[in-house]
Amino acid sequence: MKVERSGQPFGANVTEIDLAGPLDPDLISAIRAAWQDHGVLAFPGQSMDDAALERFTLAMGGFGEDPYFDTLPGSDHVAAILREAEEQTPLFAEAWHSDWSFLPDPPSGTCLLGIDIPPTGGDTLFADQRAAFAALPAEKQALCRSLTAIHSARAAYAPDGAYGEQDEGRSMAIRPDESARATRSHPLVLTHPETGEEALFSCGGYIIGIEGMEGEAAFKLLVELLAWQTDDRFVYRHRWEAGTLVMWDNRRVLHRATGGYEGHRRELHRTTIAAWQG
Ligand code: SIN
Repeated sequence: MKVERSGQPFGANVTEIDLAGPLDPDLISAIRAAWQDHGVLAFPGQSMDDAALERFTLAMGGFGEDPYFDTLPGSDHVAAILREAEEQTPLFAEAWHSDWSFLPDPPSGTCLLGIDIPPTGGDTLFADQRAAFAALPAEKQALCRSLTAIHSARAAYAPDGAYGEQDEGRSMAIRPDESARATRSHPLVLTHPETGEEALFSCGGYIIGIEGMEGEAAFKLLVELLAWQTDDRFVYRHRWEAGTLVMWDNRRVLHRATGGYEGHRRELHRTTIAAWQG
């Protein structure tokens, strides 16, 4: 297995490995170590079906909980991130987020496999929150460490949310539900359970406030912080190819989808990796 830096602020490409083949314990440890080092790993040129994607996810830590999506027929864990060529709905996952951060135990990582990739556009952006936190002035770091954010899926997955009942014509199997109104608090700075490194765990997509802070002040702080978190110097842009598997660490990176492929179909298959149990 060969691991090479992406040439961007973070992330790495991993080659000379067949993820559909046997995944022995040494190989699993090597992949997980590279994942901790680089935050995002791209494995181009894989020949994985959904069963192989599930085997890989299981080896990386087991399956995470995936609310609000139906899985693909024949699979209990693989969901399609899909946009048909003529689809007119707002882009899915365009806001910066860490997957399912509103859960009590959010998934440690996500795997996304390129299936049907448009000739242009549709890149996924990743922002390194370890580097973004480390680059903050000390007094801002101290402020962030003292704060607890309130997360909720309501703006996205409640029946009146962005992917709710009025969201017609979407090809993805999104299933909005009243349970999306629940809130869950997490520290704004997360100490990574495996590396011990601190990272900002603040995401525009799911945070609805900060505990003990008046709404407008919290919003101002979160907006200012998000601009910092997603500055170009912390961002890796992934250009997809069919057969590339990307695996990222939700405890360290934010990500978001981009458009620019109007008139083309885009399909990726996704699993989440369970929260780290230690
Ligand atoms: C996601 O956030 O899971 C999807 C990202 C993408 O479509 O690029």
